[in-house]
Amino acid sequence: MTRRLYLETYGCQMNVADSELMLGRLKGAGYRLVDRADEADVILLNTCAIREHAEQRVYGRLGELSRHKLRRPGVVLGVAGCMAQHLRGKLLERVPQVDLVVGPDGYRNLPELIEAACEEPTLAVRLSRVETYEDLIPARADGVRAWVSIMRGCDKFCSFCIVPFVRGRERSLPIGEVIRQVEHAAAEGFREVVFLGQTVNAYRDGDVDFAELLERADRVEGIARIRFTSPHPSDMTDRAIEAIASCRKVPPQVHLPLQSGSDAVLERMRRTYTMEEYEVLVEKLRRAVPGIALSTDLIVGFPGETEEDFSATLRAVERIGYESAFIFKYSPRPGARSAEWPETVPDREKTRRITILIDRQKAISLRKNQADVGSTVEVLAEGPTKRSDMEWFGKSMHFKTVVFPHREERVGDLVSVRVAAATPHALLGEGVRSAAFAALEDVHA
Ligand code: 5AD
Ligand code: SF4
Repeated sequence: MTRRLYLETYGCQMNVADSELMLGRLKGAGYRLVDRADEADVILLNTCAIREHAEQRVYGRLGELSRHKLRRPGVVLGVAGCMAQHLRGKLLERVPQVDLVVGPDGYRNLPELIEAACEEPTLAVRLSRVETYEDLIPARADGVRAWVSIMRGCDKFCSFCIVPFVRGRERSLPIGEVIRQVEHAAAEGFREVVFLGQTVNAYRDGDVDFAELLERADRVEGIARIRFTSPHPSDMTDRAIEAIASCRKVPPQVHLPLQSGSDAVLERMRRTYTMEEYEVLVEKLRRAVPGIALSTDLIVGFPGETEEDFSATLRAVERIGYESAFIFKYSPRPGARSAEWPETVPDREKTRRITILIDRQKAISLRKNQADVGSTVEVLAEGPTKRSDMEWFGKSMHFKTVVFPHREERVGDLVSVRVAAATPHALLGEGVRSAAFAALEDVHA
């Protein structure tokens, strides 16, 4: 008998990739994906724990989904991912309707775990030093972009971050398996591959480093673009920079998390680089890859962050000129080192700082995007915008969202688009109606 699975994913792309792994595993065991929780035998949430807000959202959702168990007590409600690993048994205590708690290294046995959870509440939160799921085949969602997790875990232990505690030690997929996955993605019709890892450029399999991995992947036929996220500044070797510059399919774009522009804060964050070292790296990237687009992650309100530290972040953002940035309020995470330190920046002040920083970045993004007006960009077509079938969107080489009038293009085509206008979040191709401005924000969200 086929069982029906409903799966919701929260958090980063690693989780999206993990959900595809889980789905692949469960399809192999006779499960079928349904898109409504009230039709499912098994409801699974793949969760995030990076900030408290992420956990609050999942608690809310679990409350809603629990009601399915009132009408159909046989339904299995499972929580997977980082929040499962973080809270373990506490999750079963706090939400008694939960039957299964499974951490990021427990997916191999998912079918058996679900069987066990039909009988009694089941916990599978042992982390592994070796699990890479190298032999499991992910069931990838349709689209132009295939996620390939090339390494798992993190050994950096930044003081604010619980990833090393919920995803365990760093380990890499064997190179042969990485290339096999790229070839498989190409054969399935994907045009872009995104290599994923918490510190993706720390990849290593014997003598094969991240640079060589890019070079080998670059030779796979059928794939048009190869991206990766997120690299750690301290792992960005000269060899990796050369590979980014020389690999034809690796676009001129890197997401390079900075976190703070203040050396004092970077030190307490245990980021292992200074502002000067980071900027030397940016300089090297710009020299090797002219016109490279950079994006980043920033945190405001870290314990001890003074007004002067915050100003240093503002100045860094101005100096470096990122195309875009993900900006977060610091959120203490039990288990991470900084959670033991007193919070010195009240929430009101975090809000003030994040608002200023977002506004500043928005102005920079707009300036950068406006500089593209009049040029022609190559867009990998993804499909219609939410507002209109006549207008499609896709990403440029620089990973900017571009909206363009649809003619005969098919999903996955590379389209030349002349940029007529820009917003902070996207470029508008010639012939796009102004109503599409609103649609842009939809695409971005
Ligand atoms: N509080 C706020 N932001 C955080 N991040 C990681 N941990 C925290 C935290 N405790 C941010 C970092 C990281 C991104 C994925 O999430 O900026 O790069
Ligand atoms: Fe977290 Fe730092 Fe590892 Fe990134 S490098 S996952 S921020 S500990």
